[in-house]
Amino acid sequence: MTATDRILIIDFGSQVTQLIARRVREIGVYCEVHPFNKVTEASIKAFGPKGVILSGGPASVLTADTPKAPDALFTMGLPVLGICYGQQTMVAQLGGKVETSDHREFGRAFVDISADCALFDGPWKKGEREQVWMSHGDRVVVLPHGFKVVGTSEGAPFAAIADDDRRLYAVQFHPEVVHTPHGSALYRKFVRDICGCSGDWTMAAFKKEAIEKVRAQVGKGRVICGLSGGVDSAVVAALIHEAIGEQLTCVLVDHGLMRAGETEQVVKVFRDRFNVRLIARDASDLFLGKLAGETDPEKKRKTIGAAFIDVFEEEAKKIGGADFLAQGTLYPDVIESVSFAGGPSVTIKSHHNVGGLPARMNMKLVEPLRELFKDEVRLLGKELGLPDEMVGRHPFPGPGLAIRIPGQEITRERLDILRKADTIYLEEIRKAGLYDVIWQAFTVLLPVRTVGVMGDSRSYDYACALRAVTSTDGMTADFYHFDMEFLGRVANRIVNEVRGINRVTYDVTSKPPGTIEWE
Ligand code: XMP
Repeated sequence: MTATDRILIIDFGSQVTQLIARRVREIGVYCEVHPFNKVTEASIKAFGPKGVILSGGPASVLTADTPKAPDALFTMGLPVLGICYGQQTMVAQLGGKVETSDHREFGRAFVDISADCALFDGPWKKGEREQVWMSHGDRVVVLPHGFKVVGTSEGAPFAAIADDDRRLYAVQFHPEVVHTPHGSALYRKFVRDICGCSGDWTMAAFKKEAIEKVRAQVGKGRVICGLSGGVDSAVVAALIHEAIGEQLTCVLVDHGLMRAGETEQVVKVFRDRFNVRLIARDASDLFLGKLAGETDPEKKRKTIGAAFIDVFEEEAKKIGGADFLAQGTLYPDVIESVSFAGGPSVTIKSHHNVGGLPARMNMKLVEPLRELFKDEVRLLGKELGLPDEMVGRHPFPGPGLAIRIPGQEITRERLDILRKADTIYLEEIRKAGLYDVIWQAFTVLLPVRTVGVMGDSRSYDYACALRAVTSTDGMTADFYHFDMEFLGRVANRIVNEVRGINRVTYDVTSKPPGTIEWE
């Protein structure tokens, strides 16, 4: 982006580096995370930050070949804030001393602010005691020339240090995590007051720049975008459409495994409201035909993935191909995470349903969300005028309902039963005001029939399971603790209203050891 005010975060491999970026952006300042081993004096100058934050990390400055910031960073006149490992490397690089502490600190601690400095000239100030989150074995024991102690904790006599003249600051704790309740105020002080960033990074500003960027990249070229109904692809499509209008064609491959009303809603919003060129291909016969007789989860996924690419390519060819493929890659997918050993290995997650297509069809990628976190994508979606129920939607897996009919062949009848139960469940969740606090909720049609009694007759029908989890990234999850009354109400409605289901269970497994989906 060309945002003028920007902060550089140098990543030393902390598990929570991304949280620093989120805190800074929440303050309205654009920032990027760059791995320490890619940062040089020249790259800093090229990026042009108004300040630099050094993240935490698992390494120790006491070992050989320890990760470092470029030495030049400390003489460039830029304000620098070191966090945890960032503090230790700053101290070691500037001539101070770090030792392994026999008083390790993990978890909640309290910092007494003992002296004035520009960082502690606001919500955090001299004489106050702040709750913080510590996680360190090493600690600073001798300060570099020019520094003074401005905060202490029981395990870290140098919990916060400052050199106001050079605008170098460092803390032993992690202000980016929620367990440091006033941590955001500290970042605000640093990026807004000390670095002088204006805080004009807003979604409206992002949208404007992103549109310009798409126009510059695409020129008169043609772009094709797969629409799934999910948040990311919807936002990508709306943004690119606003940028280049008719040069964009969206393709919605309906594999027949969507939830009730989903395809219709996407068509309504994109074709009727936004006037986007949209091909909605009903390929359900083809997908269900290929899935016939298949009960193995991995084979189902592979069959669906391969068929998806075939159909997408077919539709793309019908319109004469395209120069670019639009993808909803997000920032967490592209941050080159520093490996836990602190070494230079790099992991970049590959993305998406249409993997393999760009090369096969010789298309270049347009990825306008590469700089955004998920919650920012939602804000952008709103800015673009997408309906709330679309931008706030729970994640939905690429293979759709096929992986929610475990251990059974996928048939239209089973899909219908599952859809009806799922609709009731989600309706009740929305009615109870719980949709937005739950990460994902859905129904699973179980491969077992059970005996019931309805009226005076015996029934012999499917059992279903309800699943609802809370999570922040889908990597770990806890089952949602509904009250029993709610569950009873949903069970009652499903058994009464959905022909084919006579028993309802609730899944109380967390991830790990379970996964969110059943297959
Ligand atoms: P699991 O079941 O692995 O799911 O705990 C974690 C998150 O990923 C989604 N998921 C998928 N998404 N294609 C997707 O696009 C898939 O094959 C797939 N499998 C699982 C799942 O819904 C949850 O949000």
